Amino acid sequence: MEAINASIGFDRKLYAQDIRGSLAHAEMLAKTGIISTDDQKKIAHGLNTILSEIEAGTFTFSTRLEDIHMNVEARLAELIGPAAGRLHTARSRNDQVALDFRLWVKEELQRVDNALGGLLEAFVARAEEHAASVMPGFTHLQSAQPVTFGHHLMAYVEMFGRDRSRVRDAIERLDESPIGAAALAGTGFPIDRHMTAKALGFREPTRNSIDTVSDRDFALEFLSVSAICAIHLSRLAEEIVIWSTPQFGFVRLSDSFSTGSSIMPQKKNPDAAELIRAKTGRINGDLIALLTVMKGLPLAYSKDMQEDKEAVFDAAETLDLMLAAMTGMIGDLEVNRDAMKKAAGAGFSTATDLADWLVREAGLPFREAHHATGRAVALAEEKKCGLEKLPLEELQAINPSITEGVYSVLSVANSVRSRTSYGGTAPSEVRRQIRAWKKRLKRD
Ligand code: ARG
Repeated sequence: MEAINASIGFDRKLYAQDIRGSLAHAEMLAKTGIISTDDQKKIAHGLNTILSEIEAGTFTFSTRLEDIHMNVEARLAELIGPAAGRLHTARSRNDQVALDFRLWVKEELQRVDNALGGLLEAFVARAEEHAASVMPGFTHLQSAQPVTFGHHLMAYVEMFGRDRSRVRDAIERLDESPIGAAALAGTGFPIDRHMTAKALGFREPTRNSIDTVSDRDFALEFLSVSAICAIHLSRLAEEIVIWSTPQFGFVRLSDSFSTGSSIMPQKKNPDAAELIRAKTGRINGDLIALLTVMKGLPLAYSKDMQEDKEAVFDAAETLDLMLAAMTGMIGDLEVNRDAMKKAAGAGFSTATDLADWLVREAGLPFREAHHATGRAVALAEEKKCGLEKLPLEELQAINPSITEGVYSVLSVANSVRSRTSYGGTAPSEVRRQIRAWKKRLKRD
């Protein structure tokens, strides 16, 4: 029973939140006259002693005492005697654990918010540097149209920006204090839940005591926000793995974020990127684990809910690490502009520009222009040359309205420069988005 029941092995992580919650609860009990100020002072002194003992590593945790709440309370009794028994007036471990865990998740969400801020800044800085560096844009991982590396990086800025706003939404929603819901029904003691909510930095107290001790959405939301963010990180990680192969050669990882092979001296392996890609699996697993624990649980508290913590702790530790590694890796990634530019011109990537030119300058319907371009690509393929190397007469044989002017759109730099639509890849447009993001990051 002790082995299956005890959670102290992992919920000791909540010690600071548990003590903070108890300090606020005891103060409220004294202010409302439910306990004496004398007892409250003893309790506060005892709790602060316990905090230092835990932080100094001298506190003995016991599995016999099940969880962090009972470990702290038992030690409090040793330290201050019978006054310790008054602390648990008008509360239950059910609202206590809901409080501790909410406080912890809120702090973690704030850490993720900060880390995302750092990541976004690193991305925007690299994007600015490469606002005009041409690279191939892909669909189906086949060269599609030339884009700029800055534009590609800014795509991730949008994703991580949405992750950050999801983090903030989650904080908004969880910002309610559970303490005082007691076991599930509230209490007859004249407590002041607004007072404890305020003391603990919550916007307000929760409104329904049954919901309060049953709810773990805040943990599920943390996990889902983390899973989405991890998936974004994993896509970029995968791209870094591909880009850093000698075959692509778009980027070179610094020695700090890669490893050599123990047998093949030429190798530089993208381990950090691979681990970011892989660790996404843990976070997805953590989300599914808690969703499955919560599914079909009748109201209100059931011990099943003790299984909420390890998933959240694991996801938090993993995500923090992934964000730190990605921020470092992006910051010192060496970019090979020439290799990117060369690849950008391969695969007839300006074919769409030719088709657009035929529509714009020769008045062809797009479908017809698409067909004529297809013939030009086939010809270039046959001659093993780029579209821009096809002689004018041969292009005119495909469509007589083609003139010398067409060559101006067949280069990758011109192709990119022409995509000036809002959100498009033109360096001028990318720089505009970068300026807007810089302002936004400063504000946030
Ligand atoms: N360790 C428990 C948990 O994490 C605390 C709440 C226990 N409540 C109870 N009625 N047994 O959920």
